[in-house]
Amino acid sequence: MGTASELALLVRDRGPAVVLTGAGMSTESGIPDFRSASGIWADVDLFEVASIDAFRRDPLRVWRWYGPRIGGLLAAQPNAGHVALAALERAGHVRAVVTQNIDLLHTRAGSTAVIEVHGSIARFPCLACGAEETLEAILAQLETREAPFCSDCAEIVKPGVVMFGELLPADAMERAERLVRETGLLLVVGSSLQVWPVAGLPGDTVRAGGALAILNLEETPYDAEAEIVVRGPSASVLDEVARALDARAENA
Ligand code: APR
Repeated sequence: MGTASELALLVRDRGPAVVLTGAGMSTESGIPDFRSASGIWADVDLFEVASIDAFRRDPLRVWRWYGPRIGGLLAAQPNAGHVALAALERAGHVRAVVTQNIDLLHTRAGSTAVIEVHGSIARFPCLACGAEETLEAILAQLETREAPFCSDCAEIVKPGVVMFGELLPADAMERAERLVRETGLLLVVGSSLQVWPVAGLPGDTVRAGGALAILNLEETPYDAEAEIVVRGPSASVLDEVARALDARAENA
């Protein structure tokens, strides 16, 4: 297994890196991931609360799960890993972060080139009329109701995240696909790489001649193709990488 200092050398030599992050990036901010033993899907049937069929069938059921989840996501703070990636971007070692996470923590930590391929809790579309509600408007409604509605047509709005059975935002995926094909190094952080089409991105990098690095607590299907695999907690490992490259947050 690789070390943080070896990862730092790879970033220095093959970067600027594109970083692909998953839920494992935010567990140290108190947000559980999905497929670890303690992950969300261990207790909840994702097809009951996170699929577009479930939303169309019973939007109230989806919001009964999703409403409290929004509060938890907003209460979380960026961890040292998010801060390190923002510092590495400012220092020129990270070109962009492609994230599967909807928690806004990369942006709140200061990263500016963030591509949210699974949407985010910043916007809530109405499937009936195409209008969008802001997070603030949704939070205000959730104080007095279980499921927020569209201010234009009064239909229940959908959570602003890509649900199972939905297409990913085309512009975000096109940007992500271009970035991973052009980069000299794709660093995957905190993802099981089991959900397509995002799980196909590391293969795009390797086929285009780029190097792959994986920082994850558990094995992924791409470990064998990676130049380096670091089995460690993302917050402290990324902080060590930023310090090794003298891209500490203090250099902001
Ligand atoms: N440091 C490093 N790795 C971690 C940490 C940590 N602190 N905590 C968890 N991990 C690892 C876990 O071992 C796991 O392999 O992060 C990975 C998270 O995998 P998933 O829970 O499957 O999350 P993710 O890959 O982001 O899921 C993709 O699935 O449910 C959908 O839309 C949801 O975006 C999500 C998508």
